[in-house]
Amino acid sequence: MKKEELKIFQPITIKSMTMKNRLANAPFGCVPMGDGDGYICDASIKNVHSLVSSDIGLLMCGIIRCMPSKSGLIGYDNKKVEDQKPAVGIASLADDSYIPGWKRLADYAHSFGCCLGVQLGEMGPQAQNSVSPQIPEYEKYKMHTFGGEETISDQKIWTKEELDDLCEAVAQCGRRAKEAGLDCVEIHAAHSTGLLYANALDPFFNHRDDEYGGDLERNFHIVRKTVERMRELVGEDYPIFIRINCDDLKGPMGNTIDDVCRYVIPLLEDIGVDAIDLSQGGPSYTTEGPLPPMYYPRACWMPFHGQVKKVTKLPVVGASRITTVEMAAKYVEEDYVDIMYLGRQIFADGEVIRNYLRDGNDGSTRQCIACLQPGCVPCTVNFKERFAALPGIPPLDNSIVEKPKKVLVIGGGVAGMEAARAAAEKGHKVALWEREGRLGGNVGLMASMPLTSEFQNLIDFQQKGLAKTGVEVRCCYEATVERVKDYAPEVILLATGFAMPLPDSVKDGLMVMDHMTALKRKREFRSLDQWHKKVVIYGFFAAELALDLAEQGCDVTLMGSGSDKTIGAEAWVTREREMYLRRKLTDVNYIRASQGSRRVSNPVVYTHAKLEGVSREGVHFYHNGIHKTMPYDALIVSGGRKKNDDMFEALKEITPAVIKIGDCDKAGMIKEAIIAANMAARGL
Ligand SMILES: Cc1cc2nc3c(=O)[nH]c(=O)nc-3n(C[C@H](O)[C@H](O)[C@H](O)COP(=O)(O)O)c2cc1C
Repeated sequence: MKKEELKIFQPITIKSMTMKNRLANAPFGCVPMGDGDGYICDASIKNVHSLVSSDIGLLMCGIIRCMPSKSGLIGYDNKKVEDQKPAVGIASLADDSYIPGWKRLADYAHSFGCCLGVQLGEMGPQAQNSVSPQIPEYEKYKMHTFGGEETISDQKIWTKEELDDLCEAVAQCGRRAKEAGLDCVEIHAAHSTGLLYANALDPFFNHRDDEYGGDLERNFHIVRKTVERMRELVGEDYPIFIRINCDDLKGPMGNTIDDVCRYVIPLLEDIGVDAIDLSQGGPSYTTEGPLPPMYYPRACWMPFHGQVKKVTKLPVVGASRITTVEMAAKYVEEDYVDIMYLGRQIFADGEVIRNYLRDGNDGSTRQCIACLQPGCVPCTVNFKERFAALPGIPPLDNSIVEKPKKVLVIGGGVAGMEAARAAAEKGHKVALWEREGRLGGNVGLMASMPLTSEFQNLIDFQQKGLAKTGVEVRCCYEATVERVKDYAPEVILLATGFAMPLPDSVKDGLMVMDHMTALKRKREFRSLDQWHKKVVIYGFFAAELALDLAEQGCDVTLMGSGSDKTIGAEAWVTREREMYLRRKLTDVNYIRASQGSRRVSNPVVYTHAKLEGVSREGVHFYHNGIHKTMPYDALIVSGGRKKNDDMFEALKEITPAVIKIGDCDKAGMIKEAIIAANMAARGL
């Protein structure tokens, strides 16, 4: 079948809206961003440009402000709500004065043949804004949620009258959306703790005993009342979507997939919504949703989506780590969903659809790595399109230099590769030297573990960029001072990353190595059936490696000096990844409804431990007031990143133009290294 004939590229009509294809972006909060008062402005148009111009059939804008009151919205300090301006970034439709801005946005989307929709609703318990007082169980779980250990003493509980007003306000937003020329609206009732509508639908949170709660029918009253009123205002033919959880991922404490298929879907059909958009879980207590990190397989929600699709005639919309059009097409073709959202992938590469249509495959597309490094903006694998959104960063200058320079990049990690490509794009003559036999540096080493293998997408893409721009790449080629002198570069970009020096107390021991070396020598840890290698890892930074080696069959002990709350709590490990690691490795009181969220028995974890030394008898450490010794086959020590910039001074003797980039300048997140590298190269 020709790719254009695939179902995903066929138009779909939902009442008055016809989408040119069945691909849409997943709604992201603050897309579009509003000005300080929530109005659509020039920045909003810029903000959506890469999406509407990406050939999707529908741009679904993320949750916006529907109530004139500012309470509960992301970005507010609820204690001082009244005297605050709206946080920049949250668009609004709270009164008719917002309509012209949205009309402008709708016209802009339509000029690309893209329909426009918007999510409506109100924030929920995570913004301390709830339908019911929190039950003690939630307090227990909340202790460990991403917000830290904050109390919820200032929590706002909505009265019946306020909920009546909310339903009216959201319904009025539907009317305004229609008047502004938007093609559909979506009531955001997914994500459990995150949103007030979801809060009402979820039996774990909704323990009211009035018309807004008490049983399934009453829990859905908020949706029924909103949709019925909106219908009066927008007419029969205007599409009203709803986003719900296909499973709250709380087991019997919430709505399960069976509850959704048996009770929720018939109820929604009866209420009169026109499409069902599916998500799952809640950001404060699950990692399988709503933002699945790289630890989960691509398309991980599709089995549940497929079950819902079987029990309803309404169009079903889905998402979950779909990184290629081919994958999206398969799930539409096989009737798991009718419309596929591309969420983070479309941030990773706005060309994803066009690349597929042009080449018939996804080979030239940058794929999302689901790293979730804060907010996806700018995207780790593609900061380019989001570049302008960053304060203090000049717009991209794509001009070619008049006098090309001879540039040498030392180090082929992600910073070095980015710098080399960007410098070559500017027209410089660029060589990149890498000591190891492969490119990718420490990120490449992380990619060697199944849990974090998605990092390889970034490296693959960067490698293609080097080939495309004609960078002369030499691997297995150490940059000695002599060699650099002979090469005589005009500019040197030093991207030699970081090292992890071993503590003196263990550095002379047998089979003692740092984290990155262990990743290089991972194969040596593969255990034979009869003999489980005993691996001791010191440093919680290596939690992923500990899980990986345990999976390979080693008997792993993971120790660290901190408490269980420090596991996974690295600056660049986002909350979903942190939560995942802490679930696997500690007994913290998360909701653990799914098999995959249980604690594992291997690795064994020692918190508050101090590494004291190593000898033939074993690893010596201090734990719970006792000096202990543990036999070992290998000891891996992780932590203490030290800049690998030893060559810097010597290189300055060769040319004054030596610039340190990435971790060899400042240890940080991948995207920080990439941005710094790109800016340094563009400045040449
Ligand atoms: C930065 C960010 C913001 C998001 N904001 C919203 C939102 O406002 N409304 C919503 O329903 N989902 C939101 N989501 C969830 C996405 O719509 C989507 O369901 C999720 O990212 C999974 O899809 P993906 O794997 O294709 O990214 C957000 C996700 C991210 C990463």
